[in-house]
Amino acid sequence: MGKDKLRRFSELHTFPNVIEADYEDVRELDHAVKGNWNTNRFLNNHPVVLELGCGKGEYTIKLAEVYPEKNFIGIDIKGNRMWVGAKKAIEDKLNNAHFLRTRIEFIDSFFAKDEVDEIWITFPDPQMQSNRKRKRLTAPIFLNRYKEFLKPGGIVQLKTDSEFLYHYTNYIISENKLTKLIDTADLYNSQYQDLTHGVKTHYEQLFLAKGQAIHYLQFTLDNCENIVEYIDGK
Ligand SMILES: C[S@@+](CC[C@H](N)C(=O)[O-])C[C@H]1O[C@@H](n2cnc3c(N)ncnc32)[C@H](O)[C@@H]1O
Repeated sequence: MGKDKLRRFSELHTFPNVIEADYEDVRELDHAVKGNWNTNRFLNNHPVVLELGCGKGEYTIKLAEVYPEKNFIGIDIKGNRMWVGAKKAIEDKLNNAHFLRTRIEFIDSFFAKDEVDEIWITFPDPQMQSNRKRKRLTAPIFLNRYKEFLKPGGIVQLKTDSEFLYHYTNYIISENKLTKLIDTADLYNSQYQDLTHGVKTHYEQLFLAKGQAIHYLQFTLDNCENIVEYIDGK
């Protein structure tokens, strides 16, 4: 590991706006922050918004600037990338931007029922091979976990360059009769681009430079008790 990466990792441990937890920390008991984000971390009762697979946390940072009356949590396993967002939040005194370094597979150990108002999923790995479908962040195994803590009516927003993941997620939405609020295959040639606050994440900029269209979906998880896999799905 490079010196710079090592420095970032050790700095990250000291950041007051970062929680780091691995499987061992939540294997038997939920994390102490579960149900306590607002009382113990943000010290207010504002709505909580998550960015899953946040990388450097561009949405977490930008939205925290635009919406000081909401609390934002960027979640990712990669500490080196997260350091960029967490450092910026500290430097810019964005007290409403926090970060959680963990695997999203364990997410239900960190949030209690109705604790979250909104979820952003920004340019997740599409995991196209069928033997990796359970790794897709919009697969039923994940959506059912999000349901456990997302408030009724809470929205999920997916931004992706991947035509595959966009179609897959659309199939999951229709198979389960979830309520779709917005669907565009070409965000920047649509009426919806303002909804994404002009934020272009690190990966998004790379995809746009290659001329790829950006797909955007907004939906809720309300109408379904148990979200199931798309039957003919690959
Ligand atoms: C393609 S990058 C996108 C990063 C950022 N959202 C962007 O648009 O620039 C996908 C990110 O998701 C994270 N990720 C993927 N699967 C994850 C998982 N199961 N748990 C935690 N992080 C995950 C990766 O570490 C990576 O930073």
